[in-house]
Amino acid sequence: MDHFHYVDGVLSAEDVPLPAIAAAVGTPVYVYSRATLTRHARVFRDALGILPAARIAFAVKSNPNLAVLRVLAAEGYGADVVSVGELERALAAGMDPEAIVFSGVGKTAAELARALEVGIGQFNLESEEEGLELAEIAVRMGKVAACALRVNPDVDAGTHGKISTGKAENKFGVPFDRAAAIYGRLAQTPGLAMRALALHIGSQLSSLDPLEAAFTKVGGLMHAIRGAGHAVTHMDLGGGIGVPYKTGDVFPQPAEYAAMVARVTGNWGVTLMFEPGRVITGNTGVLMTEVVRVKEGAGAPWVVIDAAMNDLARPALYDAWHDFAAVQPDGERFVANIVGPICESSDTFAMARDIDLVKRGDLAVFRTAGAYGATMANTYNSRPLVPEVMVDGEKWAVVADRIDPATILAAERVPDFLAG
Ligand code: LLP
Repeated sequence: MDHFHYVDGVLSAEDVPLPAIAAAVGTPVYVYSRATLTRHARVFRDALGILPAARIAFAVKSNPNLAVLRVLAAEGYGADVVSVGELERALAAGMDPEAIVFSGVGKTAAELARALEVGIGQFNLESEEEGLELAEIAVRMGKVAACALRVNPDVDAGTHGKISTGKAENKFGVPFDRAAAIYGRLAQTPGLAMRALALHIGSQLSSLDPLEAAFTKVGGLMHAIRGAGHAVTHMDLGGGIGVPYKTGDVFPQPAEYAAMVARVTGNWGVTLMFEPGRVITGNTGVLMTEVVRVKEGAGAPWVVIDAAMNDLARPALYDAWHDFAAVQPDGERFVANIVGPICESSDTFAMARDIDLVKRGDLAVFRTAGAYGATMANTYNSRPLVPEVMVDGEKWAVVADRIDPATILAAERVPDFLAG
C-alpha cells in the first residue's frame, strides 16, 4: 500500500500533484511519501510485536537519506550500518548509538575505532580476523565491544545471484561448520563481549522457506554454542524480505514473516534483532522522469527518458523490473522500449513493454524506487547526482539537492606536471 494515487487524472504523492514537483525541481527526481514510509515502518514493527523481544535496525543502505532516517528514528527504529558514512548519518538523524548495528565484510580499523568511540550497540563480525582486530582496538581504547558472529548458513535464498549472500561461495560471514569454534575463541578474547549470531542470506526474497531453513539451522548452532558454555543472549536475523515490483506479484507479508519467526524461535530465549531495508522503503518512493523523445526503432519504438542507469541502477545491474506509469495518462497504451540517454546498452529500463502511451515532454514514474534507488546513483556520463524530495500531506521539500556536474568538476584539478 502506498500513497501515490491519481487525483483527477494526475499522479500525486499524498496531496501533492507530481507535476508541481517537476516544475519546481526538474527531473529526474526521487519523490518519497512520508505517510507511506511511516505506514510501512509501523506495519513491520507491529507485526514483530508478537515476539517477546524484538529490535529493528533499519538497513540504512536501502535508503540513507537523512529525512528518511529521521522519520524512522521517530518510529523507534535503530540502524544497521555498513560504513562510517552510514554510521554518521544514523547519528545525525538522532538514532541512539546503542540501537546501531555495524555490519559489513570490510570494516577498517578506523571505522571500528569510530564505532567504539560513539558506543554503538553491536558489531556484526564477519570473520575471526575482524574480531581479533576489533578486540585489540577496544582494549587500547578501554572499551568492550558487544558482538555478533555472522554465520554463513549455506542456504540458497532463491533470489538474484548478485544479491544472494548466504551460500558457502559468497564472501559473507564465517563458514557454518567453523562458527562454533570461532565463537568460542572470540568469547574468550578480552575486549569483546560475544552475545549473538547474525545471518542475512540475501535480498528481495520471494519466499519465507529459505529464511526458515536458515533460521532453523542457525538456531541449532546457537544451542550448540550454549552447550559449550558460551552465552548467546541475542540473535540477529538480518533482512531480505522482498516486495512486489510488478503489479499482481504476491510477496510474504510482515505478519506471515513474524509468525514464521515466532514458530522457529519460540524456545530460543533471546532478544531478536532484525535488519529490514527494502520492505520498509521500497514502496515509499518513485523516480519521476520526463520523456526526452520517442524514437522509431527496428521493432518497438524507443522511449528515451531523462533518467538513466546512473539514477536507478537496478534494471541494469539485476535486470530488475520497475513498473512505469505516466503521470497524466490519457488511457491509451503502446508497446515500447524504455531507455536512458547513457551511452551503453545496459542503460535500458524495459524492452517491448506494454506501457501508458507517452510522448516528448510527458512526465512518468518508475514505481517502488524508494529502496536501492537514489542511494546507488552516480554521475556516470557527467550527469548530475539525482535529487530527492519528501512529501508530507500537502507539504513537500527537497531533502537532497541535485549535485551539478559543475560542483563535481570543481573538486577536480589539473596537476602542476600537466600545466604548460
Ligand atoms: N542486512 C545486511 C547485512 C544486508 O547486507 C542487507 C542488504 C540488509 C540487511 C537489508 O536487506 P533488505 O531487507 O533490503 O533485503 N542493491 C540491491 C540490494 C542489495 C542488498 C544488500 N544487502 C538491489 O537493488 O536489489
